[in-house]
Amino acid sequence: MAKIIISQSTPLSGTVRISGAKNSALPILAACLLADSDSILEDIPQLKDVENMYNLLEWIGLKINSEDNGRVQIHSSNLINHDAPYELVNKLRASFLVMGPLLARMGQTRIPLPGGCAIGTRPIDLHLKGFIAMGAKITQGHGYVEASAKKLKGAKIYLDFPSVGATENILMAACLAEGQTVIENAAVEPEIVDLANYLISMGADIKGAGTDTIKIVGVKNLKGCNHTIIPDRIEAGTFMIAAAITKGNIRIENVMPDHLKPVSAKMREIGAEVNEEDTTLVVKGNDKFKPVDIKTLPFPGFPTDMQAQFMALMSIVEGTSIIIETIFENRYMHVSELKRMGANIKIEGRTAVIEGIKKFTGAQVKATDLRAGAALVLAGLAAEGETEIEDAEHIDRGYYKFEKKLMSLGAKIHRID
Ligand code: UD1
Repeated sequence: MAKIIISQSTPLSGTVRISGAKNSALPILAACLLADSDSILEDIPQLKDVENMYNLLEWIGLKINSEDNGRVQIHSSNLINHDAPYELVNKLRASFLVMGPLLARMGQTRIPLPGGCAIGTRPIDLHLKGFIAMGAKITQGHGYVEASAKKLKGAKIYLDFPSVGATENILMAACLAEGQTVIENAAVEPEIVDLANYLISMGADIKGAGTDTIKIVGVKNLKGCNHTIIPDRIEAGTFMIAAAITKGNIRIENVMPDHLKPVSAKMREIGAEVNEEDTTLVVKGNDKFKPVDIKTLPFPGFPTDMQAQFMALMSIVEGTSIIIETIFENRYMHVSELKRMGANIKIEGRTAVIEGIKKFTGAQVKATDLRAGAALVLAGLAAEGETEIEDAEHIDRGYYKFEKKLMSLGAKIHRID
């Protein structure tokens, strides 16, 4: 079990480059299953979640060559297995995204049901509802879900909630289905647009990605292509908070400022300075911040994946701030750990009431999930004394060279494996 040790850091300053987006890379890697020739992907972040996805895809039959610079070559002409073993799937929830492509390309698939995780139960009913509407036969038993369809047929699918994963899974399956599929109340996250752009470059016929209605006309086959993954808006948002919480000044390169609008708006409201220049953001902290209220929502609302990190900042802003978490039912695991560092937070249902304290105090804490771990690192940067974060490997699932990047900005942080 890895530990991260952080000492109170002077204001962070300097330049940091943001890596490719984890939540784009994972569905795009799954989409490679649809292509009958090679793809080259650029800016794939070499994260634990990505490594787990490689292992699963290699089991299915893909050949993957990844270079340290984020360039990955994928040979997908030959699929061997239509199933996925439990040991590979239970390490990564997003592995369920291979279901749509396998069903479309091989006509059948058998995947272990993803379990719950620290932030909630995370059902897959909307994914399955889409496959059923497209003519797939679904059976569940012994912890597995099986799907089969000689040929998927286009259908009109209304999602009860704009689920990111369900939109991606159905979108991928529809690319090789017979006729037109319409996904209504689709997710509009930037990662959906990135996936659609990749699929379109492969030869798919998709219109409307990035709006709540996506229309897909199935094609006979898809060819591999070259594609560069969009920058990670959550990694960028985390460095924005690192600037604010240490009263620093960070130049954040390789970002899409439009993808960060809800985060930038809240940063400005709290009192930080955020300047946009093309693909760069410059964020400056301030001596006096104001309390703010946040409600997590699907894009373009405030992202749930930034909730924990923002809470760390709100904890040391004088006055009362409020967070309402509407996406996941159990995403406050970081609260008890922030409280160990002195935070004054009360939880009632999906609402967190945060009474600002003067300063965090360093403590022994535990990362319960990826973003909770990031929030504790941020709190540690601003805390008096030393903070020791256990189970720090959660952070490696989503942040590429996190400590190294923070150290280059002046943070006092190191890891014990
Ligand atoms: C993706 C992101 C995750 C982010 C989340 C919300 C990836 C790999 N992960 O997760 O980082 O926090 O979007 O922005 O891209 N739901 C159902 N039934 C379903 C599917 C989802 O009820 O069939 C519910 C979930 O339990 C959750 C909500 O819908 O409460 C949002 O889930 P969803 O948008 O599907 O998130 P993921 O794709 O799992």
